[in-house]
Amino acid sequence: MRGVLITFEGVEGSGKSTQMLGLARWLRDQGYPVEQTREPDGTPFGAAVRRLFERDVTPLTQALLFLAARHQHVVERIRPWLRARRVVLSDRYTDATVAYQGYAGGVDPEIIRELNVRATGGVLPDLTLLFDCDPSVGFRRRGGRRRDHFERQALGFHRKVRRGYREIQRAEPKRVRLIDAARPADEVAAEVQAIVGEFLRGA
Ligand code: TMP
Repeated sequence: MRGVLITFEGVEGSGKSTQMLGLARWLRDQGYPVEQTREPDGTPFGAAVRRLFERDVTPLTQALLFLAARHQHVVERIRPWLRARRVVLSDRYTDATVAYQGYAGGVDPEIIRELNVRATGGVLPDLTLLFDCDPSVGFRRRGGRRRDHFERQALGFHRKVRRGYREIQRAEPKRVRLIDAARPADEVAAEVQAIVGEFLRGA
């Protein structure tokens, strides 16, 4: 099997990170060589970038920072893993910048798409799981935990993020699979396993 990049996207509290952990375990049980990573902090540089978001900067500045972190992530981690034929699972990747800084933040989504290609050297997701739910569901799930810069944005911002992700999915329905994340976690996990299992059998 070739190396495969599967990305997990969705609004805050959509359950994507929990589902990614469960899927990694399920895949390892079946003998797949799995790597788990996340953005922006998939590298030490990316972790340093995350801390910069506590400052108030424009959406274009945010996009450029996420893209810089992504470039390092691809060079240091993702590309070597793919060359070693691993199944790479990433909690957020290219579509997050298009949805957050593009559709919600007001930067032209086409420009972000182009910059994503440059920053990744064309290492784009083979499959993307979009965990879709109204952001109010996610807010309730997150409870009283300390919130970062993006989580503190108003519900209206997060609704734009959700609509942005749905636009991305409509434009690329084969790559981006829409998952109803408002359902109980075990139902969501069963659907995730079905989609990824079928995808990997064909890879
Ligand atoms: P998370 O750990 O909740 O996924 O934190 C990542 C935060 O950064 C989340 O609020 C979404 C935001 N983000 C962007 O706005 N653009 C991006 O390109 C990425 C990777 C994350």
